[in-house]
Amino acid sequence: MLRADRPGPRTTTERRSTPPAPSFARRATLRRSLRLLGSFRHEQTDPALFYGGIATDTAELVADFYRDLTGRGLRGAIVLDVGGGPGYFADEFGAAGAHYLPVEPDPAEMHAAGLRVPGAVRGSGMALPFRDAAVDICISSNVAEHVPHPWLMAEEMLRVTKPGGLMILSYTVWSGPFGGHETGPWHYLGGEYAARRYRRRTGREPKNRYGVSLFEVGVAEGLRWAETAASPVVAVFPRYHPRWAWWLVRVPVVREFLVSNLVLVMTAQR
Ligand SMILES: C[S@@+](CC[C@H](N)C(=O)[O-])C[C@H]1O[C@@H](n2cnc3c(N)ncnc32)[C@H](O)[C@@H]1O
Repeated sequence: MLRADRPGPRTTTERRSTPPAPSFARRATLRRSLRLLGSFRHEQTDPALFYGGIATDTAELVADFYRDLTGRGLRGAIVLDVGGGPGYFADEFGAAGAHYLPVEPDPAEMHAAGLRVPGAVRGSGMALPFRDAAVDICISSNVAEHVPHPWLMAEEMLRVTKPGGLMILSYTVWSGPFGGHETGPWHYLGGEYAARRYRRRTGREPKNRYGVSLFEVGVAEGLRWAETAASPVVAVFPRYHPRWAWWLVRVPVVREFLVSNLVLVMTAQR
């Protein structure tokens, strides 16, 4: 396993880990980080631009880890995207030849971008409407912080993934710069306060409502969950950081503030 992927001193998780996945690490350059961070400011004004960039990057990330893990490309692989929203990732995975299926509980989100994704499923990540070992790859991007039981969702993702298949869970860390979403950076003074301040300033409810559709999820708790899960951890890294900054996930406390988005890469137990 890559040293920088390690969450801390040698742990049971590491002893159970599969070999390194260097392909994506080579892609994680400073130029990529700057490109992604630059696109964030377009999220509200030009979602297609923002999500297009994220979609390309996500498909590359998934393809790299899947190839490292199985020796295969995405062609023909069933990819389940938990909390896939309108299906912004559909085109990228489709272009790679994968069968892409978003699962999403909110019909408004499903139709938000006017995309038509064949096979889109309505359902919750915390009770996925799929049988065990149904998909080759199960991913979730920026969803775990929006559900009250993120680790139940993570367990569900592993359950529906075929043994030896790939599971990637990526979420926004509460104490990071983007943790408060549209109410940030005031979330550093508390989620309730940030929500109240947003209401006072804008006269409307934030879309992401603290305690309702926005929850505090940290790096340490993700690593703790991964440690106790029955499936091996392949890699753990900050999603938007260059490779040389991946060591941040190993530093308690600091990581909660500087790892804005944590990626847990696992393979379903054989
Ligand atoms: C910030 S969006 C992320 C969309 C997309 N995955 C991405 O990365 O661009 C969060 C999504 O999580 C969805 N969501 C909320 N609760 C969920 C649940 N229990 N199960 C699955 N998805 C959920 C929301 O409806 C929304 O579409």
